[in-house]
Amino acid sequence: MENYAAIILAAGKGTRMKSDLSKVLHEVAGATMLGHVLGALKELKVKSTVVVVGHGSADVRKKFAGSGVKFVEQKEQLGTGHAVKCGLDALKGFKGGLFVLSGDVPLITSSTLKGLKRLHERGVGRGGKGVALTFISAILSDPSGYGRVVRDDRNRVTGVVEQKDCTAAEGLIKEINTGLYLFDSDFLFKNIKKLKTENAQGEYYLPDLLSLAVAKGMAVRALTHTDTHEVMGVNNRVELSMVSAVMRMRILKELMLSGVTVIDPGATYVDFGVKVGKDSVIYPGVHLKGSTVIGRGVVIEECVKIVDSRIGDNTRVKSGTVVEESRIGKGVSLGPSAHLRPGNVLADEVRIGNFVELKKVKMGRGSKAGHLSYLGDAIIGRDVNIGAGAITCNYDGKNKFVTTISDNVFVGSDSQLIAPVKVGRNAYVGSGTTVTKDVPAGALVVARVEQKVKKGWVAKRGLLAGNGKRKKRGR
Ligand code: UD1
Ligand code: CA
Repeated sequence: MENYAAIILAAGKGTRMKSDLSKVLHEVAGATMLGHVLGALKELKVKSTVVVVGHGSADVRKKFAGSGVKFVEQKEQLGTGHAVKCGLDALKGFKGGLFVLSGDVPLITSSTLKGLKRLHERGVGRGGKGVALTFISAILSDPSGYGRVVRDDRNRVTGVVEQKDCTAAEGLIKEINTGLYLFDSDFLFKNIKKLKTENAQGEYYLPDLLSLAVAKGMAVRALTHTDTHEVMGVNNRVELSMVSAVMRMRILKELMLSGVTVIDPGATYVDFGVKVGKDSVIYPGVHLKGSTVIGRGVVIEECVKIVDSRIGDNTRVKSGTVVEESRIGKGVSLGPSAHLRPGNVLADEVRIGNFVELKKVKMGRGSKAGHLSYLGDAIIGRDVNIGAGAITCNYDGKNKFVTTISDNVFVGSDSQLIAPVKVGRNAYVGSGTTVTKDVPAGALVVARVEQKVKKGWVAKRGLLAGNGKRKKRGR
């Protein structure tokens, strides 16, 4: 077994993306392109990983700080060959196999990289002048934009020609360079300085090392990949969307094969890394994002968005609901059209109905808020009933205050609880009450103007029409 290290190229400007954001920070199914590449590399357990950064490097460093990779700055983007040369500065003295990957080929899988490694190792043991590098090529029906792999009449690779440098005949070649390589470190250290910029783009082209190796009599081996999606590079936003579609389908396929029903995979958006338990059902228009974990037997209806949240088993999230940074228990019902802003912790069997907004609410088992409420900064016990339109007034324009509602409390419709305030166990808040002071356990609190009835008042005011009905206004 050889030693392995990796260099990932991520310094390019990404001109064709037309973006202020570094190309490798653009997201594919909720994770950055660079994150996907690093993820695929993880299983190969290389000794060290060097990421060559340049354009937008501060953002890239920040995003991947603490991920264990080393960063090297490529101050001027003089081409992929120059970028690798910069990367090698951080690997001085390294001996073994060196993966060179592109930060803009995000669909690459660890199993393909393992295949590349196996093929490389098989060649290394052989005599002769050894294997300089093994790389991944692919046959594309539309090879435009990629470097073409040139072979001799015995079908041996002799080099790669960039699209912009192709002769008409080379332009017809369908075999392309994927930009994914495994180099022998000795070969790379010795020859990287030999690259020249005599080409259409005036850049140091890394793939020129292939013809250089061949000229030295060293072997260059290609792993020709058949899943052409996997090796797609992203240079513009059209390709970004194509790659995203492939990634989405890959994620959904895995979920479906693990026992999740996805009603319409073409209209379902599950981020990379989201977990969904078996026998859950996902309807169209659903977005599951970030670190979300969905339990078993959960039904997620149409047009629901769930971000960085945990949803317990057998919960139902009804149409149009948004859940952010919240923890939801088992057998809960949310929505339709509920909005759970960050910081909620709902126990099992809670019911949150339509047009209810929650923020930083802790709610005990079996409690309900069925209709049109705003509950914020509230600690609510078990079996509490929050009536339609009840509101916690948690904000005085400057500070936020907490409302505490103990077990088994009944809050009547259209009540306001002006925080800070506490309602004791079993207490009963009459409809339309504005609660301004703490309510003791077991008490009834009513605070509203008593009803007055003035008989015959309408007729006395001359508001009746000839037919005995009340006159319509404005006539
Ligand atoms: C490159 C290959 C091409 C291959 C294609 C596969 C070269 C010259 N060409 O072309 O043969 O078919 O990838 O997708 O290598 N980068 C730097 N510093 C630089 C230039 C680029 O770090 O100075 C990085 C980019 O950020 C990117 C990667 O290298 O992640 C590839 O660069 P890009 O300009 O996209 O190369 P392609 O034209 O796609
Ligand atoms: Ca590219």
